[in-house]
Amino acid sequence: MAIRAVVLGAGEGSRMKSILPKVIHPVAGRPMIEWVLNATASLDPVQTVVVVKPDADQVVAMLPDGATPVVQPKQLGTAHALQYALEVIPLDAEDHVLVVPADTPLITSDTLAEMAKLHRRTGAAVTCVTANMEDPTGYGRVVRDGWGRVERIVEHADTNTHEREINEINGGVYMFDGSLIREAVARVERDNVQGEYYLPDMVAILGAEGYGISAYRTDAEELSGVNTQDQLAGVAEIFRHRINRAWMRDGVWMQDPGRVYINASVRLEAGVRILPGVHLEGSTSVAEGAELGPDCFIKDSRIGSGARIWYSVLRGVSVGADAEVGPFASLRPGAELGDGAKAGTFVEVKNSVVGARAKVPHLSYVGDAEIGEEANVGAGTITANYDGYDKHRTRIGSRAQIGSNTVLVAPVEVGSEAYTGAGSAITRDVPDGALGVERASQREIPGYAKRRKARHEAE
Ligand code: UD1
Ligand code: MG
Repeated sequence: MAIRAVVLGAGEGSRMKSILPKVIHPVAGRPMIEWVLNATASLDPVQTVVVVKPDADQVVAMLPDGATPVVQPKQLGTAHALQYALEVIPLDAEDHVLVVPADTPLITSDTLAEMAKLHRRTGAAVTCVTANMEDPTGYGRVVRDGWGRVERIVEHADTNTHEREINEINGGVYMFDGSLIREAVARVERDNVQGEYYLPDMVAILGAEGYGISAYRTDAEELSGVNTQDQLAGVAEIFRHRINRAWMRDGVWMQDPGRVYINASVRLEAGVRILPGVHLEGSTSVAEGAELGPDCFIKDSRIGSGARIWYSVLRGVSVGADAEVGPFASLRPGAELGDGAKAGTFVEVKNSVVGARAKVPHLSYVGDAEIGEEANVGAGTITANYDGYDKHRTRIGSRAQIGSNTVLVAPVEVGSEAYTGAGSAITRDVPDGALGVERASQREIPGYAKRRKARHEAE
């Protein structure tokens, strides 16, 4: 039995009121349609066709190799969309056609496998996936006959008051017998409230011919469709819980999993600790014993074991084992903190290496720099890396002591175990072990306050 998959993604998505095509809105960091394509791929279809709107370049651009886009020129309904897909599908008698809407990202490969199994076992002309939903508003309802067999599906807009009470909903996911699908889809009409060609009408069409209809009932959660921003947020929340539960099963501690946002692409080790308000995105990986949060945004970054990061933003960086970041640090692309290093309060680091156990504790900008092991960078230090045309590098040797409020005008180098005097603007290299100081020397003027007061009283 060969399976050919059709993913329907050409709908207007008008209820989203969004500038993005509906099916590429991200959930848990992936476009909705990618979740659906991953699930359908698990059935090893010999062909995958994605129905798209005209000019849906953004959708076509993110399709994986092996998924063929087909344009539905006008959005006249789901059965109309299927017809366009079938134009590029050669069907053998043994083939079966899986149809999945692109706006149902929670559908799992397990459910698809179970429905395919049921479809094969019953030899049905069509198998649909249904669920009992507490609030079925907006979904097609499954109408069963006196023996409990599926008779037809009625769209919400077309229900009578009795049908509206039915809470078994149609998930929009079907498997069709390939030898019957073409003829059945051609018979769908649009004499309904929305004036659309409804794909679910194929159930009644095939049933009336005496063919078998089967239905696989699954969890309502999996069939949650995304038609509005509200539903998108609801689906994202379900994904969040799925992902967080899976990490907690693997030994990650979360103080409040409802407030932790981990994208599907992220990797965590057992023993990671996560406080509320943490967002982990992209290729981020976090090693055992690291503690994140409260309130961090971390993208495309590698966090070492035992690192401690709070109230901070990290993008494209690597943080060594037992390093400390924040509160209120911004680590930008190319920042590399060595083991046990520190980027503390109000510190920005970009394209720089901070050596093992080196510390930048307060109020500093470190850009295009290399800081040697165990160096200490005093509060308020700035690497002046930009001359208005080019960026230049600053090198600070190991165990150097950079005085508070030093400006290091790059290109410049401070040797190992060297010092800079507080408040200096360092424009020339400081040799190993030397003190570089650049500021006027201090004078004391005795009795100044008294004279100042006398002058004021005389005026
Ligand atoms: C559809 C089903 C409904 C089911 C629900 C489950 C129909 C008529 N109704 O309703 O029974 O309960 O899904 O979520 O099928 N699309 C096209 N071309 C079109 C119209 C839609 O490709 O002309 C695509 C959309 O991009 C979407 C999918 O088909 O991914 C479903 O369309 P949508 O408008 O969301 O249908 P629902 O009202 O949700
Ligand atoms: Mg929908």
